[in-house]
Amino acid sequence: MADTDLLVDQLTSLLAGETNPVTILANASALLNDTLANINWAGFYLYNEETRQLDLGPFQGKVACMHIAPGRGVCGTAYATGQVQRVADVHQFPGHIACDSASNSEIVVPLPGFGVLDIDSPLTDRFSAADETVLTAFGRAVQKQLDTTPAHSVQ
Ligand code: SME
Repeated sequence: MADTDLLVDQLTSLLAGETNPVTILANASALLNDTLANINWAGFYLYNEETRQLDLGPFQGKVACMHIAPGRGVCGTAYATGQVQRVADVHQFPGHIACDSASNSEIVVPLPGFGVLDIDSPLTDRFSAADETVLTAFGRAVQKQLDTTPAHSVQ
C-alpha cells in the first residue's frame, strides 16, 4: 500500500480548493479505489441528523445498503464508538451487514460528527495495522477538506 504521506498528499492536491462536499467525497472514494489493491468497495456513509441514521454517500463498488443505524454492523459500530473497526473476517463480526457477498474483510474509519469511511476486500485479513494508520490519516484529511465547505454537510 502507498505510504501515508503519499496517499494523503495525493488527496490534498487532488482536492485543493474544492468546497463541494459531494465532489470531495466522490473523488476521495475514486482515489482509494484506484490506489488500493484487492478491494471491492470504497466509500462513505454520512450521518443524517434528521433520521439519525447513516445514509449511503459517494462510493465506488456495487450497489450497497442505503441506511445504517448507529451501532449496527461494522459501519454503525465505528460511528457509534468513534473507533476504527478493522475486521479480518466479516463473517465473524456480530451484526455485519452484507452488501456485496464478495466481501470478506473490512475497515471502517469514523469521521466524527460526519459519518464513516468504509472499505471492503474480497480477501480475508486484507487490512494491516499499517493500512489502518494510512486510512486514519486519509479520513482526517478528508474531514479537514470538508471543514472548508460552507455547509459542512451534504444534507
Ligand atoms: N458491511 C457494512 C455495510 C456497508 S457495505 O460493506 C458497503 C457493515 O456491516 O456496516
